[in-house]
Order: sequence, then C-alpha cells, then structure tokens
Amino acid sequence: NFLKNIDYRMSSKIPTNIPIFKNEYSTMALVAKQKNKNIQPGQVSFQQSSFSYEWVNPKIVTSKQSNANLNQKQQLPMIQRNKMTITEQRQSLPIFSYREDIIRAVTNNQFLIVQAETGSGKTTQLPQYLIEGGFIIKGKVACTQPRRVAAVSVAKRVADEYGCIIGQEVGYKIRYDDVTSSSTIIKYMTDGILLRECLSDKTLDSYSVIILDEAHERTIYTDVLFGILKEAAKKRPSLRVVISSATLNAQKFSKYFNDAKILTIPGSMFPVEIKFRASPEHDYFNAAINTVLNIHLREPAGDILCFLTGQDEIERAYDIIEEKACSNEFSNLFAFPIYSAMPFEEQSEIFTPTQRGQRKVIFATNIAETSMTIDGIVYVVDPGFVKQKIYDAKTGIESLMIIPISKASADQRSGRAGRISPGKCYRIYTEQAYLTEMLDSTVPEIQRSNLSNVILHLKSIGVGDILNFDFLDPPPRSSLVSALKELYLLDALDEDGKITTIGQKMNRFPIDPNYAKMLLLSEDMKCSDEIITIIAMLSVPNIFYRPKKQQALADERKNIFNHAVGDHLRLLNVYNKWEMNYTNPNWCKNHYLNENKLYEAYEVRKNLLSILESRGVEIFSAGKNISRIQMAICAGFFKNIARKDSETIFSRGTVKSYKTLDKNPETVFIHPSSCLFQLPKWVVFNNIRETSKKFLQDITVIDPQWLPIVAKRMYRSTGVERNDCDDLLALLNTIQRLNL
Ligand code: CDP
Ligand code: MG
Repeated sequence: NFLKNIDYRMSSKIPTNIPIFKNEYSTMALVAKQKNKNIQPGQVSFQQSSFSYEWVNPKIVTSKQSNANLNQKQQLPMIQRNKMTITEQRQSLPIFSYREDIIRAVTNNQFLIVQAETGSGKTTQLPQYLIEGGFIIKGKVACTQPRRVAAVSVAKRVADEYGCIIGQEVGYKIRYDDVTSSSTIIKYMTDGILLRECLSDKTLDSYSVIILDEAHERTIYTDVLFGILKEAAKKRPSLRVVISSATLNAQKFSKYFNDAKILTIPGSMFPVEIKFRASPEHDYFNAAINTVLNIHLREPAGDILCFLTGQDEIERAYDIIEEKACSNEFSNLFAFPIYSAMPFEEQSEIFTPTQRGQRKVIFATNIAETSMTIDGIVYVVDPGFVKQKIYDAKTGIESLMIIPISKASADQRSGRAGRISPGKCYRIYTEQAYLTEMLDSTVPEIQRSNLSNVILHLKSIGVGDILNFDFLDPPPRSSLVSALKELYLLDALDEDGKITTIGQKMNRFPIDPNYAKMLLLSEDMKCSDEIITIIAMLSVPNIFYRPKKQQALADERKNIFNHAVGDHLRLLNVYNKWEMNYTNPNWCKNHYLNENKLYEAYEVRKNLLSILESRGVEIFSAGKNISRIQMAICAGFFKNIARKDSETIFSRGTVKSYKTLDKNPETVFIHPSSCLFQLPKWVVFNNIRETSKKFLQDITVIDPQWLPIVAKRMYRSTGVERNDCDDLLALLNTIQRLNL
C-alpha cells in the first residue's frame, strides 16, 4: 500500500522532487539519498526540500527516528509512554469490562446508545470489539468523527493497537485524503464523508456497523446522518447503528431511535476542584495566560490544558510562553498548540509525555474538550468562550462569533483535569455567570447554519420533503426555506423543488453549492484552470501569516501579489508564483506564506481537477480574459453583491462604506486585509466578518451587467433589480405540503 501511494503521487503532475511525505506516515520515513550526500532515516526534513531526492528502498523506521527533525526546543526527551503493553493498556480501559455486553447489545439491537466519559475507550475500542465480535463477516465498521484531526489521530492509534500499517486493516478517510484500502475493516472518517458516501449508497451496504461518535457535538452532518441512518435501518434490518458520546441526553436519543437501548459506562474520574473568579474578567485571554503562568510557579507537577477560541489566540499564547521560557523560572514550561487546521505532523507532538521536572501547557480549541484525550492533564484553564458559527436566515449570511460556552461544555472542560489524579479547573468567569448566563447545552449546528449544502445532499438521495424530514431537532423553518430558495436561485432545484441536472452535477464536488456553481460555470466560461485554484485557495484559511513583530514587512511582501481586480486574483497570483518557486526552501518564509497551507491547496486542487477530468471536462485557462474569472465568481456568489455608498465620517477619518444589495441593505466596509484600495463601484464578496464593523472579505470587482447573465433567476434583465422569489416560495411550500 505504501508503494502504491508513492506511485500514485509520483505519477501526478507535480514534479517528482516535491517533498511528498508531509502528513500521513508518521511512523515511516524513506531512506533518502540526497545527491552527493547520504541522509540517515529521520534526518530528512521533507518540508524543507531544497534538493531532489531519489527514493530508494522505503523502510519502516520507528516513530522516534522520524521525530528527529522536530524543532529542538519542542523535542522533549522521550520517556516510555507507558510501561504497559498495548494489550494491557486496552484491558485497563473502563470500557473493557463491558466488551461482551456491547457485542451482545449490538447483535440484538439495531440501535445502541453508549455513554461513557472521555478517555473510557469508546472511540478506540468500540470498532475493535465489534470486529472481534464477528461483525466483520457482514461488512466494515465505520466510526465517524466531527473533526478531521480526531479521525486521523485515532486511526493511527488504533492501527498501532491492531498491529497494522495505517491504511490497511485500520484506515481513515477525510476530505481530500483517503488512507484506506481493500483490506480496511475499521474505517474512521469524518461525518461529512459518511454523508457523501450515502450519495452513492443510500443504505451504506458496505458497513455492518456505523458508530456515530461524539454525537453530543451535534454537528450538522451528524444530525443529518441520524435521520438518514434511522431510515436506512428500516430498509436494511442487518444494519447496526451505535451512537456514542461522553455527554448527551441519552433519553432523548433513545426516544428518537425507537426506544434504543442505553449503555452507560461509569468512569473512573477523580474529583476536580473548581475555582471561579470573584468578579467578571474583561480580558479573558490575558487572564488565562496569567493563570497558566501562576499554576506553573505555584502548583505541584501536572500538565495544563488551556482552552482558547481559535488559531490566532493559540499562536499568540504559544509565542508568549516561548518568550517566557527564555527566563529561568519558566525554562521547564513547554507550550504546545492544537487546533483543527494545524498540520497533522505537528499535532501528534502534544502527545509527547513530559519528563520529571518539566511541565507542558497545551493551548487548544474545543477539539480537546471531548474528541482528543491527552494524558497527564491535571490543571484546566477555561476562559468560558468558544468560536461558533451563527447564521442569519434573513440575510443568508453565516459568520463566526466568539460566544460564551454552555454549562455542558464547561463541565466537560473541567472533567479533563480529573483523568489521572485529582485536578483543578480555573474558570475565568464567575459562578453567577455559569449559573445564570450559560445555556444548558450548545445549540445544535443545524439550527445555526446555512443549510443549502445539506439540502442539496438530501435532495440528491431522494429525500424530497425536506420540511418534514425526521430531524432530531428540526432547524428553523426560515433556514430551510432560505436554503431551498438559494438552491433554486443557483439553478440546483427547479420550480417544483426537485433537483436539476445542474444540481446533480454540483453535488459531485465536495464543496459548498456556491463554489460548485462557480466551478460549473467556469467550464462554460473556459476558465476552470483559474477557478479551481481560487476555490482551493479559499478552502484553506490562513495562507498569509503576519507575525506581530514583522507586520509591516509581511504586509509589504503580501502586496507583491496584489491584483487590481481583487482578492481572488491575488490568491491566484500567490498559488501560481508558489508553483514556480516551491523548490526554493526560503520562498514561502520570505513571502510570509504558510507553506503547509499551500500544499493543502495543492491537494484540494488536484482532487477537484480529477473530478472534472473524470467527467471528461477539458480544462481551459482564461489567459488574459480576466473578466471570465470575475463572472464565474459572480455565478456562485451573486447573492453577495455590494455597491459603493456615501462617505462615512469616523474619528480616524473618512471611510467609504458599501451597501449590500438586499431588501434590507446593510452598511459594510472593505476589510483592511483586502487588496482593493481603489474602492470600485460594485463588488462581489465571499464573507461578511463582524468585528468593530461589518467587513467584507475576499472581494472582487464586478460589472453589474453580468448579474442577469450569470444569475437569471435572481436578477431581472434591468440589471440590479432583484427577484425576491416570494411567489416561488409559496409554490415550494405548497409542494412540500402536498408531499405529506
Ligand atoms: O473515545 P474515548 O474518549 O472514550 O476514549 P479513546 O479516545 O478511545 O481513548 C482511550 C485511550 O486511548 C486513552 O487512554 C487515550 O490516552 C488513548 N489514546 C491514545 O493514546 N492516542 C490516541 N490518539 C487516542 C487515544
Ligand atoms: Mg472519543
């Protein structure tokens, strides 16, 4: 399988000297022979290839060797992770004594709900027990995870436990990365991927058991899968579904799944002392960092887990600790970041155990709340915030906001401190806030998202009556209706609410409907080459980085890529220039570009390209006809149009504002990170980001004359007069009702 993978990558269009072993094979390295010089296994930094390598006999080396190229400071001396053998470790987990009960319950019931604390062994053991219990005869065991990082890391762990190379008996599949083979029997995957698999196989016949793990996270895909699997189980009596979670309202789930059996596994938690603030804290970030430093100075041994809201905060926190570590009193404090968008090879570093006298602090997003277990945590610092998606069905705009967590989340976070010994949780908020201001549980994502993607999915697997789909918690009707309307405007649904040929084609791409429409139109506009790159670049955030101390220089370098037409063309410039320079190890660094992200964009691009090519689409470049690219962008984002407005006076000067082209127009501004300084009259944008003001992000100049051409259903021929579709909606509603 390993060699197959090399062939596959070598035969792709990218030149063969590109560093290819970036992510997946943490326990493998190649014996690479640099021209004129021998390199020992593990010494090769595949990320910084300035040479071309010849691949000579691939050889498995230990993970310790392959870690040899880690940053010196971060490379803690390895101590043996655990004196126990893998079998002993497996048998020591709380879930082990329930092994037979689980196998029996799944044999005898179509649905089972398993509730056990984080670290009990649900994710790693359930699939193995079921395979051992004989389910393999009927098909594979799938286990879904809401997060890519968790799917990959747990699959690697289970491959170790199983004693196979990842991708053989135990594998994973996430978007743009399929590490499974014909021998795979335990497949970890994101919930989004399983939902995509339903497209080609509604009853998921290749699986004997499907475990929907981390069900309490209530991601939009998991919620939709609840409904689909409930239906599939009716059609296929041999299908088994396990819902597993650390914290969920088991009764509610049981009721939904036809009074399913509930198996609750008691945990072995130590007490956690909760410390609230006496008064509200205004700057949770600095308060959290100070708490971490104080714990290090005052408290006995034990690692710290500090929850922050996103990559920016985590990187800032990491830098602060790195700086502090130069002084004596903090020299034995090691910081580790963990967030979903982090490159996989760096993520595994957080599992490196600390040695006596050392302490590690992990700065994590919600990912460490339940889906990742990090051993050794004794102290938790919880500022009480999370970055969450919210959706305004009226404007159709989704945005990310930092909001207070729920009580259930707070309790999960504090629980992380009590796994190995009694622990302490420092909450950077008052008890009053916990009791009176926090919601009991997090609002399911399906109730705060744009649903067009999910509805297109449901429509294409034949779920016609969306308004009456069996949701565990139905989304607001306004969101359903606005998604139906959006899909109609994108030509993905017809007047009867049925999926069109265009809709079917759009659904083949693993991207949101707006992007899919952009891509489809680019075929007609003969500019797919550029549009694929733009979509790939938009799908990996944080391409540019801007270190605090070098902001001016970083901005200057970023300006090199500016394009008069806007940010999308700037992204295209970045990618094209990178492709010309990727062999230069300093090029990304010099231009303040995130090299890993560019490789990710490369992977996304390759994937989209192969989907187009498999349909026999010829890929054309727009050449000098840039307006084709602009029109294709409009075809996907015609709803996001803004027109230059009057001047608005602010204390710091006059700023030109824009008005969105809506029934109720919003006043918006061009984000300072945009390369559009000329303030064009008309723009199309991807997002609105609300901070001090509402800012447009990823903006391109347009000509409003294009709108009725690329979005006939929304814009009447007069140019910018909109069709608000109210008559159509009445029709859609009637149809939905008649379907009852
Ligand atoms: O899913 P649940 O939280 O119940 O537990 P799990 O993820 O199956 O973890 C069970 C044990 O495996 C824990 O003690 C983890 O420390 C260990 N584990 C690991 O060492 N590496 C991983 N990538 C995942 C789990
Ligand atoms: Mg788990």
